[in-house]
Amino acid sequence: MIIESPLELIFPDLFYRLRAFAGDHDVFLKLEGFNVTGSIKVKTAIGLVEDLERRGIARPNETVVVESSSGNLGLALSLVCAIKGYKFICVTDPNANRATIKGMELYGANVIVVEERDSVGGFLGSRFKTIEQILQSEPNAVWVNQYANIANKNVHADQTANEIACEFDKVDWVFVGAGTTGTLAGVSERLHQKFPEIKIVAVEPVGSVTFGGAPRKRNIPGIGTSVRPKLADLANPDMVVAVNEERTVEACLSFVRDYHLLVGGSTGTVLAAVQQLAPEFARGDTIVAISPDLGEKYLDTIYDTAWVEENVTVPEVKTQEQTYKGRRDRGRRSDVLRHSRLVS
Ligand SMILES: Cc1ncc(COP(=O)(O)O)c(C=O)c1O
Repeated sequence: MIIESPLELIFPDLFYRLRAFAGDHDVFLKLEGFNVTGSIKVKTAIGLVEDLERRGIARPNETVVVESSSGNLGLALSLVCAIKGYKFICVTDPNANRATIKGMELYGANVIVVEERDSVGGFLGSRFKTIEQILQSEPNAVWVNQYANIANKNVHADQTANEIACEFDKVDWVFVGAGTTGTLAGVSERLHQKFPEIKIVAVEPVGSVTFGGAPRKRNIPGIGTSVRPKLADLANPDMVVAVNEERTVEACLSFVRDYHLLVGGSTGTVLAAVQQLAPEFARGDTIVAISPDLGEKYLDTIYDTAWVEENVTVPEVKTQEQTYKGRRDRGRRSDVLRHSRLVS
């Protein structure tokens, strides 16, 4: 294989069959961490920049692309902007890992790390405030806004969802971690059309507000929000599962031990949700989970015992991991709690 550009390093048809991962059921893990820059976000980055180009907004050597990212999109946009000749400013927060920030800078991005938490204890609000300041002071700045940009959803409808549909004759369950909800909304839209009986499961950490949970401090990057993203209005999941960060860490550790692949924190969260819903699966169901990135960049955090002891606290008051129906009972969260279990 000879390539002409690093952007050709995207692997649409990579699925790891996890034998007997959820009870007797095999699970197909769609691996996105082997893409260039190490995550699913390179597809999003290309989609967002091509959208600017289609709308005639982007001018090489002049336009300053601006975005808020906890790391993966920032790294991907750094590469895409470098290749296409746009300047790039990434606004991130202390949860982003150092190697990712270094990578962004090596690709030529200007990285701003906000230190102040917002009013609900997260960083997203502070990141948005910083972006507003940049837009006011830099006339050529364009905010691609992955949290509200329909191009973020469309790229996952046209690519990620179709990649799943191409691989399987029928799909019964798809588990998707929710950050901006771009992946979730795109996959949900396209796969509900292709497989009307499918169940799309949105997965987020306890403490994320996207699907109505109470805000709480979270430490694992990439998944969950402290401000509900606009795209979530289009997500239409059939179910939502909220996973404690402690359980995420356990899932990552047991996965590397049993399935021999170091995966990222959002993958661990998704895998924990798959196992939580295992009693729901019927014989012959095809179950797919999306793995947005790999684990090497989390060796100093999720895979570091001291970091976990300091940052991933077991709540004093036991928190319920919640699973509730989304799509068909939207707005009726209180009476749709299912499979609740107390976490010790
Ligand atoms: C590692 C990781 N997992 C999951 C997600 C969530 O994807 P989305 O923003 O499409 O909801 C992201 C987004 O940045 C991510 O970086």
